[in-house]
Amino acid sequence: ESLDLWTRSDHYTNSFLIRPDPVLDAVVQNTMDKGVEHEIAVSPAQGKFLHLILLSIGAKRVLEVGSLGGYSAIWMARALPDDGEVVTLELNELHAEVIAENVKTAGLSSKVKPEPLAPFDFVFIDADKESATKYFIEAKRLLRKGGVIIVDNVGQGWPVDPSNTESGIEGARELLRYIKDDTEVEATVIHTVGAKGFDGFLYAISK
Ligand code: DHB
Ligand code: MG
Repeated sequence: ESLDLWTRSDHYTNSFLIRPDPVLDAVVQNTMDKGVEHEIAVSPAQGKFLHLILLSIGAKRVLEVGSLGGYSAIWMARALPDDGEVVTLELNELHAEVIAENVKTAGLSSKVKPEPLAPFDFVFIDADKESATKYFIEAKRLLRKGGVIIVDNVGQGWPVDPSNTESGIEGARELLRYIKDDTEVEATVIHTVGAKGFDGFLYAISK
């Protein structure tokens, strides 16, 4: 099977920058074995990007909205000090069970928890795209001043093209319109391209 150039390029740079990781491989395998759609998780390069941001800001408390099988939560938890915490919010019961298994496999059960306790240094929003604005507003409320919010999938399906009216794409547009008039944050979108196709991370800091 020939991979598209974006995916090949992603694999190429990863081959220098992301170490072999049998634990994460086992986590991914378990996620797929349990029938959870790992394909829609963040890519390895994006997982490492989240990890590096948390190291950069010295994050201790992280909130993740929409955790799927825990792949991004594990990347993030690994960036936290021993007394740090990733709070995973996941509505789907099967996903929540798989997260608990995967976090245990990764030896991070003491750092990854389902109980929210504000304030947070960082919030990663990656749940249903229709509710992105609601999650963003709540994330701001739970964030410390100067804290960071990243929202996944703001480029998915080309929100720029008005003929795309799918609800998730409308969700990304609604969030952009909301932030345009929001005096509490400064934000930008970093478009992403690679194994997950064309997309974007919205990066915001609370002022
Ligand atoms: C898809 C990708 C995502 O990153 C996500 O959070 C949800 C869905 C997708 O490709 O369908
Ligand atoms: Mg996503």
